[in-house]
Amino acid sequence: PSPSQTLAGKTIVADAFHAPTRGQVEFLPAAAITLDPDGVIAKVSHDIPDDAIHLPAGHVLLPGLVDLHVHAPQFPQLGSALDVPLEDWLQTYTFPLEARYSDTDFAASVYAALIDHMLRAGTTTALHFATIHLPATRILADICMAKGQRALIGKVAMDHPDTCPDYYRDADADTSVAETRALIDYINHHPDNADRRVLPVITPRFVPACTDACLHGLGALALETGTRVQTHVSESDWEHAHVFDRMGMSDTETLDHFGLLRDHTVLAHANFLSGTDMDLIAARGGGIAHCPWSNIYFANAVFPLRDALARGLRVGLGTDISGGPIGTVWEAARMSVAAARMLESGTDPARAPQERGRDAARIDIATAFHLATRGGAQALGLDVGSFEVGMRFDAIAIDPAAPLGQIVVYGETPPLQLLEKIIYGATKANVARVWSDGIQRI
Ligand code: GUN
Ligand code: FE
Repeated sequence: PSPSQTLAGKTIVADAFHAPTRGQVEFLPAAAITLDPDGVIAKVSHDIPDDAIHLPAGHVLLPGLVDLHVHAPQFPQLGSALDVPLEDWLQTYTFPLEARYSDTDFAASVYAALIDHMLRAGTTTALHFATIHLPATRILADICMAKGQRALIGKVAMDHPDTCPDYYRDADADTSVAETRALIDYINHHPDNADRRVLPVITPRFVPACTDACLHGLGALALETGTRVQTHVSESDWEHAHVFDRMGMSDTETLDHFGLLRDHTVLAHANFLSGTDMDLIAARGGGIAHCPWSNIYFANAVFPLRDALARGLRVGLGTDISGGPIGTVWEAARMSVAAARMLESGTDPARAPQERGRDAARIDIATAFHLATRGGAQALGLDVGSFEVGMRFDAIAIDPAAPLGQIVVYGETPPLQLLEKIIYGATKANVARVWSDGIQRI
């Protein structure tokens, strides 16, 4: 299939799965999904026009995956440098790597490789941290526009001289805010972005890396421009305690104090939130990027996902490239199920001390699938992630039998079992085609 083929105004016929509501998977056998001229789903039916496009037999259609937390510049160190705690990892490996993006040629080559990798893995929407460099961050936006990833992109703001090294830090708070504003203007007024598939995000790295003046200025900018916000929150014991010591309140309360906790603010990790923090995030309309792999490495922790969902927080999944060893949402989805099980282990009163685990922490595969698709989209406030009328057509075709894949299917397999096998086993090898806005990208 040649990329850039468009389904606009056409009908695609496929066996499809989606999870518009958390905990419930819907199987849509031989669904005829009709797109309007802009790539928005206009009809889901069984009416098959003569010029309909049919997926090959055995392939299934899923919504494109949503990665709620990516550090684009960290792609070169994916799968390495995970041997030290977060605060050392930043200083030893990550800040030196990110500083290299003052070189725009380096930025262009890494960012192109990353976006190709993500699209081939089926990630059609991503929320990206870039670096402090405005020129390189513009290049990331250009590449996402050209390759068709739906992307939200932030220039990282970090100006605190106590936590950020001299060689990798914004000159001062005014520079952080001015360059963030410049990126917002660049993306919002880009001639190739009329459909606004790429959006800017205000991105204070995390409270420890920003001065009060920087946080204050970015909060005012969010209010003025209505731009979304992303940051890290209560990720590790060190980070959580650092903010309490400096501010006399929690990380979450600090973000709210500076006007950064808003509708569709996405907070990465959030391992050590209190119940009060969670309720505040829910009240403000914020969401969590749940990064189960990274949480193991940097927090020795499992995010209390079920508690967060019960309190009404929006949650999606993040790879946190490269804060964990994984680069696909498939792997994040599998680990979200496994990590939730581990959190629940140890609650048997006959065997284990109660503090080891929590009751009712587990999630099922339907929930993981929802978080990987519609859940992530809802955290961002985007009309993607399911095959409902009015949604933009961001989708992937999966070939469960791809010869180089790891999905094992023998004979007749009930639909929900097939979906389970896909979530547990899919790799890039199984992703046969990828669309965003109805345009084929892979
Ligand atoms: N906290 C501040 N910066 C980072 C980062 O780059 N990755 C992770 N996982 N946590 C952070
Ligand atoms: Fe991160």
